[in-house]
Amino acid sequence: MPRFNAYPRPQPGEMAELDTLAADLVNRRFNQWGYPFDQDVAMEAYNRWLADTGLADITLINVGDPWKKDWDMLSSDVIERRVLDFWAERYGFENNHWGVITNGGTDGNMHGLYFGRKVLEAETGKAPILYVSEEAHYSVKKLADIQNIEECVVRAVPTGQMDTADLEAKLDPSRPALIAVAVGGTFKSAVDDQAAINDVIERVRPCAVYRHVDMALMGGYLPFLDDPEARAVVDTRKMRFDSLAVSGHKFIALNEPCGVFLCRREVLERTQSAPIPYLADTVIPTISCSRSGFAALKMYWRILTTTEAGFREQAEHVLAMTEYMRTRLEERGVFALVNPHANTICFTRPADRIVHEYALACNHSAEFGDLAHVVVMQYFTRELIDRFIEEMTSSAAGVVS
Ligand SMILES: Cc1ncc(COP(=O)(O)O)c(C=O)c1O
Repeated sequence: MPRFNAYPRPQPGEMAELDTLAADLVNRRFNQWGYPFDQDVAMEAYNRWLADTGLADITLINVGDPWKKDWDMLSSDVIERRVLDFWAERYGFENNHWGVITNGGTDGNMHGLYFGRKVLEAETGKAPILYVSEEAHYSVKKLADIQNIEECVVRAVPTGQMDTADLEAKLDPSRPALIAVAVGGTFKSAVDDQAAINDVIERVRPCAVYRHVDMALMGGYLPFLDDPEARAVVDTRKMRFDSLAVSGHKFIALNEPCGVFLCRREVLERTQSAPIPYLADTVIPTISCSRSGFAALKMYWRILTTTEAGFREQAEHVLAMTEYMRTRLEERGVFALVNPHANTICFTRPADRIVHEYALACNHSAEFGDLAHVVVMQYFTRELIDRFIEEMTSSAAGVVS
């Protein structure tokens, strides 16, 4: 087969530079505490399988609907469907779902807002208003701007949940409501109270409602907890949400951006666009045409090799380590905030040296002052936490230098 590469690998000097970069990245991988990435992703066997089977040498793109029929182009649709079915069951969709593997949390939110707007417009003939908490991820607000959706920012209470009294005051009954629920907010991991939001909807009765839940991080582990209250947060039978976005590279521990978007089947049916002639007259419900066919394989590999019991163990581990770290901080007199079901700890911002060394995310709170946060992931151990607390307290804890 003709190949046009000049060399099989970069030249020795270039390789040396890449190797140095690789060694540095691998060395520092456990010092990334401010961001929700598992740095122990164990994808070596998967990568070897790609090389052994020849998949490492092909291009694999999935297009549009993973359930489409009469499709000649190479794809991993069959595996994508299995992955989506797996997650749909965890979120209580009861075989009444549609979805895609996305390019990440933002892509999932983009589809949630897009589908929400289309459904609401089809139902009422009116443009909706997007209601979103000030503590929700910035992608939701940016996407409202991109999609030209009128936005109403709802205040949050000091611990980060949407202030439902403010929602009630702002909810316009004459316009369709597109509600973006945060499970949880990016900095404090606060979970918006969907039962309280639903009560507000019942009282105000907007002419139509669509609920999209951004569960980028927490959606990965909440379905596996024993606590029924935690599981209910991500269960559409209980909370009646229409769509959700979860990230694949956060709790689900894949090593590059991807995620899952799921919605009720009726949502897809009410948003159908025109068939595309050059794509075998297929209707493409997604916004982007191409997405990674490898992401589906990788997520399926993760599901098969982790198993339900493994996900449960990991979920329990991150929450146990969160509680351990919160307790150690409080024992040292450091203010710490952990919201219900969260694996994120906000605490008084330590010295800059610690912030930079551990890549902590920082923010200012009117109520709690300068804060940093740590997102406790699967690789956290008591030893790592003890070492961090030792370093932090010996570097003048609570002092912003
Ligand atoms: C709550 C929440 N939503 C959305 C996103 C965006 O996800 P992505 O970076 O995969 O686009 C993030 C990322 O941190 C997040 O925390």
